[in-house]
Amino acid sequence: MDKILVTGGLGFIGSHTVVELQNEGYEVVIIDDLSNSTENVLDGITAITGKQPLFEKLDLKDRARVASFFEKHNDIKGVIHFAASKAVGESVQEPLLYYENNISTLVYILKELKKLPSAAFIFSSSCTVYGQADELPITENAPVKQAESPYGNTKQIGEEIISDTCKVTPNIKAIALRYFNPVGSHKSAKIGELPIGVPQNLVPFITQTAIGIRQELSVFGDDYPTPDGTCIRDYIHVVDLAKAHVVALNRLLQNKNKANYETFNLGTGKGSSVLEVVQAFEKVSGEKLNYKIVGRREGDIISAYADTTKANDELGWKTELTLDDAMRSAWKWEQVVRKG
Ligand code: UD1
Repeated sequence: MDKILVTGGLGFIGSHTVVELQNEGYEVVIIDDLSNSTENVLDGITAITGKQPLFEKLDLKDRARVASFFEKHNDIKGVIHFAASKAVGESVQEPLLYYENNISTLVYILKELKKLPSAAFIFSSSCTVYGQADELPITENAPVKQAESPYGNTKQIGEEIISDTCKVTPNIKAIALRYFNPVGSHKSAKIGELPIGVPQNLVPFITQTAIGIRQELSVFGDDYPTPDGTCIRDYIHVVDLAKAHVVALNRLLQNKNKANYETFNLGTGKGSSVLEVVQAFEKVSGEKLNYKIVGRREGDIISAYADTTKANDELGWKTELTLDDAMRSAWKWEQVVRKG
């Protein structure tokens, strides 16, 4: 079976994708610098799939090591590229760190892929490229808006770099997957989301509050023009998201793609408000969540949810898990992480 490189394969979405790749029979090599993950994640992946993926601790900014990695693994057929920095606030403070981590590493990998006879490339993009879209649900044709942060800009620039490269490099075929809000964890609770420090994202903040690490959840604003006044997002179960990567990779490896560079939204198509997420958590966990309404968070958009038609029809993929499933698995994971 084909050998696939997964960069950032020990991270949240990366680890779940490695599981799905191995379940499909792919041979996986992981590169991760462990800046936002630990080697223990390998044990979780191995416990779920019964197979330990190859792993190299490597900083993708180290161009010489990247080159020798590709010399050693010259039979790689595809790359799923997750490795990137992703904290929006930090990116505002440290833009150059973000441009170096997210852009220069992308260029180095593409330069290596250019040398291969053929390569499939899957890029982690984000619905952040749409900003506050003018029309909902958001289709792939919605205009890309001025980025709100250097992090968001790295996703936009990354897509442009790949698109430009594919125009003149026929041996590289690529798909950019624009994720909406990935949440939840594998149902085994052997892998999951492990934010370092105070979580910036809603779901880990909810589970950490319920387990007692955080005092209360601050709900950022209830005066938005939405039915209950809180912001609306499209929360997609990480296992559904991971499976979409395998489907996208198969599409490229089986030459089913319609262009050398394609983009797909990955979401459920359903928007949920912050309070609906809180209610879903309370329902599946049986816990009462301590929360209070505070002021708006700067930079938050009001509402974003995906039009999934293109992913459904073209990829033949659709989500199978619900928000309740995601909250249940996130809670189980939090309990395992904290209590063992
Ligand atoms: C955030 C990033 C986005 C990034 C995505 C990755 C910002 C402004 N946006 O998106 O660029 O691609 O994460 O996962 O940081 N909320 C609370 N209380 C909290 C945390 C969140 O009320 O403690 C609310 C937010 O206001 C928002 C929703 O929950 O309405 C989801 O927030 P979050 O998980 O941070 O995701 P995004 O803002 O969609």
